Amino acid sequence: MGTEKESKSNFFGIHTKKKDYIIRRCTTDDLEGVIEVNERELPEDYPYFFYKSILDNYSDSFLVACERDNLEKIIGYVMWRIERTPSINSLKLVNKGHLVSIAVSEAWRRKGIATALLKKSMPEIKKQDISEYVLEVRVSNYPAINLYKRLGYKIQTIKKAYYRDGENAYYMVRKTKI
Ligand SMILES: CC(C)(COP(=O)(O)OP(=O)(O)OC[C@H]1O[C@@H](n2cnc3c(N)ncnc32)[C@H](O)[C@@H]1OP(=O)(O)O)[C@@H](O)C(=O)NCCC(=O)NCCS
Repeated sequence: MGTEKESKSNFFGIHTKKKDYIIRRCTTDDLEGVIEVNERELPEDYPYFFYKSILDNYSDSFLVACERDNLEKIIGYVMWRIERTPSINSLKLVNKGHLVSIAVSEAWRRKGIATALLKKSMPEIKKQDISEYVLEVRVSNYPAINLYKRLGYKIQTIKKAYYRDGENAYYMVRKTKI
């Protein structure tokens, strides 16, 4: 099953010929592959309807990485949503782009795939009039913390026992205008 949105230019800048992967928009047909990557690579699982609702509501910033030679083979994904929270200085509600989840299959890591997924998806979620990009990451997750720091994210605070197993999270933030 496909939605109307899925028919629009799904391919996101085919990379240089050297790359053996491409980044493109996620479709409903990809969700199974996305869930597979998530369940293999991250302890946080979500029900199918959660992925589907992110896809329905934020399809432009829900991207997948797939093998160049097998476009149906999902090897990474990124998904965002918008959250509306009071700004620090006033009671005014502001939009923030919240990174819901990102993962890359182990065999495909350190090839710049997560960087590419973030660099392609951030301008898309920014179109929703956000003031900043925000995310939580396990304090022990050095690969991800390094990745985010390289893209300009800074640790703003620690969320105690944020994860079900009791681990703390860093709350990392990047202003949209830097
Ligand atoms: C975090 C993750 C998404 C990174 O994916 P990736 O495609 O390997 O990342 P990139 O190749 O774009 O790496 C970009 C930079 O991030 C940092 N980084 C990535 N993996 C790292 C590692 N294992 N150790 C240290 N730094 C790392 C490096 O600075 C790297 O740049 P470099 O390769 O030039 O040194 C991947 O390790 C993953 O899927 N982990 C499991 C899921 C997860 O933790 N998701 C984040 C939840 S908040």
